[in-house]
Amino acid sequence: MAQEVRGVIAPGKNQPVRVETIVVPDPGPGEAVVKVQACGVCHTDLHYKQGGINDDFPFLLGHEAAGVVEAVGEGVSEVAPGDFVILNWRAVCGQCRACLRGRPQYCFATHNAKQKMTLTDGTELSPALGIGAFAEKTLVAAGQCTKVDPAVSPAVAGLLGCGVMAGIGAAINTGQVGRGDSVAVIGCGGVGDAAIAGSRLAGAARIIAVDIDDRKLQTALTMGATHTVNSRTTDPVEAIRELTGGFGADVVIEAVGRPETYEQAFYARDLAGTVVLVGVPTPEMKLELPLLDVFGRGGALKSSWYGDCLPSRDFPMLIDLHLQGRLDLGAFVTETIGLGDVEKAFERMHEGDVLRSVVVF
Ligand code: APR
Ligand code: ZN
Ligand code: ZN
Repeated sequence: MAQEVRGVIAPGKNQPVRVETIVVPDPGPGEAVVKVQACGVCHTDLHYKQGGINDDFPFLLGHEAAGVVEAVGEGVSEVAPGDFVILNWRAVCGQCRACLRGRPQYCFATHNAKQKMTLTDGTELSPALGIGAFAEKTLVAAGQCTKVDPAVSPAVAGLLGCGVMAGIGAAINTGQVGRGDSVAVIGCGGVGDAAIAGSRLAGAARIIAVDIDDRKLQTALTMGATHTVNSRTTDPVEAIRELTGGFGADVVIEAVGRPETYEQAFYARDLAGTVVLVGVPTPEMKLELPLLDVFGRGGALKSSWYGDCLPSRDFPMLIDLHLQGRLDLGAFVTETIGLGDVEKAFERMHEGDVLRSVVVF
């Protein structure tokens, strides 16, 4: 029997979001219905509302979520009712060329639920990133559910589903930060801070936080940064070189998504170093670089999608480290809010003092 629950809808381009009754079908083959316990507010939800992702309104927003599996459809063996899970937006197929070559993070056949959730008048909803978890219950593909230790608070667990995983993964998966490395992180929002926490976890000896906002640099210190550089007043490339004995950082993680910060990242690395690009630029942005520098500076330029994570490998591990007190995921939860407060949370994002607002149910 389909169920009616409350969910946060973005009805049209730049229109305020609102809570509406939505219809969640019973799970079909390969699907699961999850009772959502917490869901973080991410910039991507705002981009959906602004029409910046596509025009498939109305959207059911929310995608950084954790909850309990309520029911599963035919043929589902990965999870069972009662399992505590984190939702992910890249359930890989296991069969495409990328998956078969052992690089499932580039899978091009990721899957979502086949059935649609709807409004009560039958209008089909587009769930944000195939999840749609600003809702009491949501329908997903079973492969989007990763079971983790239920001892963790749902508000903390949900954040691993997107931005925090992107940042930690940029350091530990894409950047392969190792013990004793020097790391510079340009841009210390939620993603950059997570990259700092990931670098600390990996044993980096020096973690240089770069931002244009002193408040962000203060928070970065609590996440594990050992040095800070305000790039509004100080040339970050020179500062990073000075702090690394003249060499540049072993790994530079760009978490802003602008040409000038891409350029800083390119020049701030050691000759044999790695630049990890996490910040997402807009289509019109361009960067001009002397080819001799591209050739002559060696090292590697790598972009990091979703922290190159494998949810079934990385989510349980990071939750365990958090529960052991070795990774403070709780520091990313600035406030918990209700389902009706998502619009307000979007406004607070711009004030710059929130890492994550998390809707709890
Ligand atoms: N130099 C350094 N830092 C900058 C600059 C700049 N020119 N411009 C902005 N920043 C800082 C901001 O002060 C802020 O602390 O970058 C940070 C961006 O943080 P958020 O807006 O909170 O964004 P976040 O969620 O961390 O995502 C960062 O990663 O995954 C991508 O799409 C995401 O492109 C985005 C980036
Ligand atoms: Zn695949
Ligand atoms: Zn997100």
